[in-house]
Amino acid sequence: MPRTALTDVLSGAQRGRAGLGAFNVIQLEHAEAIVAGAEAAGRPTVLQLSENAVRYHGALAPVGRAMLEIADAADVPVVVHLDHATDVELVAQALALGFTSVMFDGSTLAVEENLAATRGVVERAHALGVSVEAEIGEIGGKDGVHAPGVRTRPEDAARFVAATGIDAVAVAVGSSHAMTTRTAQLDLDLISAIRDAVPVPLVLHGSSGVPDDHLREAVAAGMTKINISTHLNGTFTDRVRQVLAADPALVDPRKYLGAARTATAQEVERLVRLLAD
Ligand code: G3H
Ligand code: ZN
Repeated sequence: MPRTALTDVLSGAQRGRAGLGAFNVIQLEHAEAIVAGAEAAGRPTVLQLSENAVRYHGALAPVGRAMLEIADAADVPVVVHLDHATDVELVAQALALGFTSVMFDGSTLAVEENLAATRGVVERAHALGVSVEAEIGEIGGKDGVHAPGVRTRPEDAARFVAATGIDAVAVAVGSSHAMTTRTAQLDLDLISAIRDAVPVPLVLHGSSGVPDDHLREAVAAGMTKINISTHLNGTFTDRVRQVLAADPALVDPRKYLGAARTATAQEVERLVRLLAD
């Protein structure tokens, strides 16, 4: 099945009030595990690569091409998405490579600057049939709009979507990036209010910190794309640790990476079902 545009799977999910799991890729085994988990659940998914992960690899193309190949060979629709891009040149590279979705993250820019840059990305991406996710900025701090105390106002989200023409909007409703405990408390009333004010699907960032039941409540209240990274890395790394601890003489990376890939695929399947069923 060929790679899919984000809007193709998001609008269906939004109509059915289902959540679409979007999972971050660090290395090849992540991409293989995420697609295997989605296939086992028989549901679409999003393979996403952050600007930080591109920096880790030193270039977009090697890992990006691998993601595209894995998506094209999948039995379910798979979106290949550039996550948290602050560099419009990187967005251009992703478009040229064949990514089907990009997130432009201008949240640290001044409002007018963010609007203009986001509009420019939308123009270039839409000309190629590629979806754009973006987020409203203006609030500082280390984690920007994803700090736990920060909230998006429904009217600001509505204005931002109308002014930019984006296909999905990331909103701040109580989650925070990179939590290793699942203790975040989301503002469900705010999610419903934004949902009513905004025509495009809503994206929850920092979903690793949100417990299972609460993720389902967030989807029922109106969140659609659910971004999960740290939690899966926890699953992956725990398994690597177990395998290495059980056999200190082991040297073949396939033994521990393969086990981690299997464990991650199982967790992706569980999460995809949890969000969509
Ligand atoms: O864009 C990616 C996510 O927001 C993932 O955040 O690592 O806290 O799950 P997380
Ligand atoms: Zn994020």
